[in-house]
Amino acid sequence: MSNGATVGIHDLSFATTEFVLPHTALAEYNGTPVGKYHTGIGQRSMSVPAADEDIVTLGASAAAPIVARHGTDGIRTLVFATESSIDQAKAAGVYVHSLLGLPSATRVVELKQACYGATAALQFALGLIHRDPTQKVLVVASDVSKYELDSPGEATQGAAAVAMLVTADPALVRIEDPSGLFTADVMDFWRPNYRDAALVDGQESIGAYLQAVQGTWKDYSEQGGRPLEDFGAFCYHQPFTKMAYKAHRHLLNSAGRDTDEAAVEQALGRTTGYNAVIGNSYTASVYLGLAALLDGAEDLDGQAVGFLSYGSGSVAEFFAGTVVPGYREHLRTEAHREAVERRQPIGYDRYRELHEWGFPTDGGDHPTPAGTTGPFRLAGIGGHKRIYEKR
Ligand code: HMG
Repeated sequence: MSNGATVGIHDLSFATTEFVLPHTALAEYNGTPVGKYHTGIGQRSMSVPAADEDIVTLGASAAAPIVARHGTDGIRTLVFATESSIDQAKAAGVYVHSLLGLPSATRVVELKQACYGATAALQFALGLIHRDPTQKVLVVASDVSKYELDSPGEATQGAAAVAMLVTADPALVRIEDPSGLFTADVMDFWRPNYRDAALVDGQESIGAYLQAVQGTWKDYSEQGGRPLEDFGAFCYHQPFTKMAYKAHRHLLNSAGRDTDEAAVEQALGRTTGYNAVIGNSYTASVYLGLAALLDGAEDLDGQAVGFLSYGSGSVAEFFAGTVVPGYREHLRTEAHREAVERRQPIGYDRYRELHEWGFPTDGGDHPTPAGTTGPFRLAGIGGHKRIYEKR
C-alpha cells in the first residue's frame, strides 16, 4: 500500500423501500409453484418502491444516518453508483449532496457498470484515501431493479441503497490489495436508454457470471492473493441468493476443491438474509451481503472475507477484506432490521399498478402520489425538473 495506511469501510448503512411484495402473492397470481421462488432461486419477497421513492430518496435515506453519526468533516467526495439512473447528465449524487447538506467543497460523480458500479466506487474511494488519508469518501450504491411484468426476471426484482463511509483506519472492514479483475463483452443483461425495464437472457447471464467468477479468481491468484482456505466467508453479488451458491461451487470446482455442502453453507449462508427478502438491488447487493454477515450473530473479529462483485455486460472483481476487531460496536443492526420490517406488504394488484406508474413526459407540473413514510421523497416534476423534499 502506497503510504502504509489501512483503508476500508468505516461505516455502512442501508435503506430499502416503503412496500414489499411476498413471493407467495406473485406465485398465486402467475400459477408458479412457490417452491421455485423460495427454494429454486432462494427469494422470499421483493422491495417495491412507492411512486415517490427512487434511487435518490433511497440513497439519501441510507447515507443520512452516516452523516448524523460522523458529521461532514473530511467528506470531500461523494460517489454515487447506480444503473437505474434518473438523468443522462446530472449525477443523482448531486441531489443527495443537497438533501444531506454536504459542504460545497465536495466532488460528486455518478458511476455505472451494471451491478459492478459500487465496487468501482469503493476502489476509487480507496485510491483517494491512499493519496490523502485525512479525507473521507461517501460511497452510495442505489438501484431499483425492474424487469417486464410476467417475464422470468420479474421474480428477481428489488430495490435498496447502501451507503458506506470509506476512510483510513476503518472501524468495520479493511480492504486489501490485490484485486482479481475480469471484463468480457457479453450481452447477458442490458437496458437501452429508451427502456425502463432491463432486457436479459437469463441462462446466458448465469453462464456469464460463472465465467467471470473463474476469471477474477484466476487473476486474483496470479496477482498473489490469499489462498481460498484463508476466507471465513464470501460476499457475492446476489441477483437471487441461490446465484451465490452456484457461483461459489463453481469457484471451488475451478480451483480444484471439493464442494462440501456444509462448508459452502458456512461460507455463504450468513450473507443472504437481507437479499432474500429485499430482492436484487443490483449494485448495492454485494454490500447488503456484507451487511447481513456483519449484523449476524457470529463474532468475525480478524476474519478474512472474500468479495465477488459482478456486473452484467460484463465486469467483475474479486478482492479481500479483513473484519476489524471491535467492529460490532459500530454496527447498525437494529436500524437495518427495522428498514426491512417496516415495509408494508402489498398485494399483486397494487404492485402491478406501481410497476406501471410513470410521470408524463410533457414538461408539465406533476406532483407525485404520496406513498413513502421515509425521510425523503420525490415530490414531483415540473418543467422536466425533479423536485425532492425532506419529510
Ligand atoms: P427461470 O428460467 O424461469 O427459472 O428463471 P428456472 O427454470 O431456471 O428455475 C430456477 C431454479 O428453480 C432452478 O434451479 C429450478 O430447478 C428450480 P437450478 O437448476 O438453477 O438449481 N425450480 C424449483 N425448485 C423448487 N421447487 C420448484 C421448482 N421449480 C423450479 N417447484 C432466471 C431463472 C434466473 C433465469 C430468471 O429469474 C432471470 O432471468 N433472472 C434475471 C437474470 C439474473 O438474475 N441473472 C443472474 C446472473 S446475471 C447478474 O447477476 C447481473 C444482474 O444482477 C444485472 C446487473 O449486473 O446489473 C442480473
